[in-house]
Amino acid sequence: MNNILLATDFVDLRDRFRAATGQPIPALPPGPLPESPAQLFQQLGGGDIPEIVVIDERSGTEAALALASRLDIECPGIAVVLVSDRVAELGLSAMRAGVSDIVPTESEEDEIRAALDRAIRVTRQRAPAGLGDGTDLGAGTQSRRGQVISVVSPKGGVGKTTIAANLAVGLARSAPHSTVLVDLDLQFGDVANALNLTPEHTIVDVVQGAAARDSMVLKTFLTQHDTGLTVVCGPNSPAEADLVGVSELTHLLQTLAAEFRFVIIDTAPALTDHTLAALDMTDDLILVTSMDVPGVRGLRKELDILRDLGMGFDRRHVVVNFADTHSGLTRADVEATIGTGVDLVLPRSRATAVSINQGVPLMQNEIRDPMTKKLRRLVDRFAPAPLKEPGPAATKLGSRLGGRHRLRRGGTR
Ligand SMILES: Nc1ncnc2c1ncn2[C@@H]1O[C@H](COP(=O)(O)OP(=O)(O)O)[C@@H](O)[C@H]1O
Ligand SMILES: [Mg+2]
Repeated sequence: MNNILLATDFVDLRDRFRAATGQPIPALPPGPLPESPAQLFQQLGGGDIPEIVVIDERSGTEAALALASRLDIECPGIAVVLVSDRVAELGLSAMRAGVSDIVPTESEEDEIRAALDRAIRVTRQRAPAGLGDGTDLGAGTQSRRGQVISVVSPKGGVGKTTIAANLAVGLARSAPHSTVLVDLDLQFGDVANALNLTPEHTIVDVVQGAAARDSMVLKTFLTQHDTGLTVVCGPNSPAEADLVGVSELTHLLQTLAAEFRFVIIDTAPALTDHTLAALDMTDDLILVTSMDVPGVRGLRKELDILRDLGMGFDRRHVVVNFADTHSGLTRADVEATIGTGVDLVLPRSRATAVSINQGVPLMQNEIRDPMTKKLRRLVDRFAPAPLKEPGPAATKLGSRLGGRHRLRRGGTR
């Protein structure tokens, strides 16, 4: 028989199912039914992921149907069988909640077996071979791995989260359910604020337990944004950062890359072990600096370190943020100092600060602002079907200036 999980407080029902299937059947701890599949998997602890969840309607009709409905939507690989004596009364609502079958409480063993067999057959037919949600990771191509794009800088406050959130929202809008944004600023991450999300679960919950073992379970722990973007939010407190191990993080990113077309990673300032683990999997690196001397010098050092570590990144995108004509620096100054081309210059813009404070990124409602236009250009570098001309080619990067250049404080050209 298959893995079956019983959600019931009634011992007689457990005995009946055990006898019918000839196997020990795990049951959820007594108490109210879990409100979501994620809660159910948490209660399951280290147990196997079930193929069938049997919910006893006597534990609460509304809660039973609500859980069935969420399992139906979020976990297509799991069948739900309802145990109830109100078959006629509940038939329609149970059907709407995606319940495979209803079994009366006093059913004979062969009736139970038949219901379980039917449930599993139907579920196997409808579940996709992989556990993807239909996002096309490049069907027809050799690799089914999504594109990993990391946003880094040695300093805080330069716009990493702003850029990561806008890029992720822009990509999600161009291809719904294609994109996941990961908050890897494990101590002070604020992706959830930038997107006005109140997550039920954070990265701490998905690097361990059932979510770490099964991609379908993982998806039930992720947070959904109105734009169709999926988000792995940062821990609730800085102390929890230690609960995210580097190898567990690598495993999480690999799973996300197998499930989503784009994995956008927002990082903490500095090259932490977690950031380096993310960089190991990164296809496109977005390096951000503010348009000021400390920021640009910091970026130069980061580029040097990455090169020394053998992380040159052919697909590198240098973004200068907070550009304004009064900074005393020009794009050419920045390029001379960092020894490579700048791909995108983002203006200082009030609308940006307001949008982040409101939790609605500019790319979500396309507010008319010079920053929105520039961010659109960044999205178009990666979007499957650019809405406009793509930005300048990445080949602009390279050692145009060669060697190390001192930062010149120039006029505002
Ligand atoms: N181009 C910009 N113009 C004005 N404010 C900006 C701009 N980019 C970012 N900000 C604001 O600067 C602050 C820091 O940005 P954030 O993206 O959180 O930086 P980081 O993630 O690098 O620490 C935020 O309040 C954000 O709204
Ligand atoms: Mg940040």
